[in-house]
Amino acid sequence: MKFVLASKNPHKITELQAILGDLGVEVVLESDVGVDLEVEETGETFEENAALKATAVMKASGLPAIADDSGLCVDALGGAPGVYSARYGGEGLDDVDRYELVLSGLRGQLDRRAKFVSAICCAFPSGDVLTARGECPGSIAYAPQGENGFGYDPVFFVPELRKTYAQMTAEEKNQVSHRGKALAKFKAELEGYLNGTHQ
Ligand code: IMP
Repeated sequence: MKFVLASKNPHKITELQAILGDLGVEVVLESDVGVDLEVEETGETFEENAALKATAVMKASGLPAIADDSGLCVDALGGAPGVYSARYGGEGLDDVDRYELVLSGLRGQLDRRAKFVSAICCAFPSGDVLTARGECPGSIAYAPQGENGFGYDPVFFVPELRKTYAQMTAEEKNQVSHRGKALAKFKAELEGYLNGTHQ
């Protein structure tokens, strides 16, 4: 079965194809099926935004579509940046500016608890929908550490490995990350669905 990934990011498709390949599914990018949509992420939850993107691309392509939405939630900031992670602080900021904003929001704050969340949604033309959520608990470091990754990686510390995301190898990050967990759950859901055992 062919699936469209509701994304313009070719890295995401390589990752998804590697994980879902042994289910006998083929994943293509929206551009491969002539779809070019800018879906507004107006949802209040990661699940809502993933569903908005997946449904829009499913309708435009006529094929089952997969989308994900993710972000960082900091307890002492009331769950911010949350669904606004990509645009926290407004236009014109880069990744460093955005994590510096998180650090300055926590200056003097001892409660550093945070989590990364990823929601994956698959919308089928039949109207069926699969959703999977992965979370990685952690805390916001006092200063950036590590060179790997992107986004908020240098300031997100994971106690399980005693490293920030940016200090992990890609393999280490996949094992503990919100995205790795959501993808593993999604794979199990999809496998159940394709075998007709989905509840
Ligand atoms: P998206 O939903 O995958 O586009 O991610 C939204 C935003 O959340 C990104 O622009 C990043 O700022 C942040 N983000 C999501 N996942 C990660 C991660 O693994 N590390 C660092 N930042 C992330």
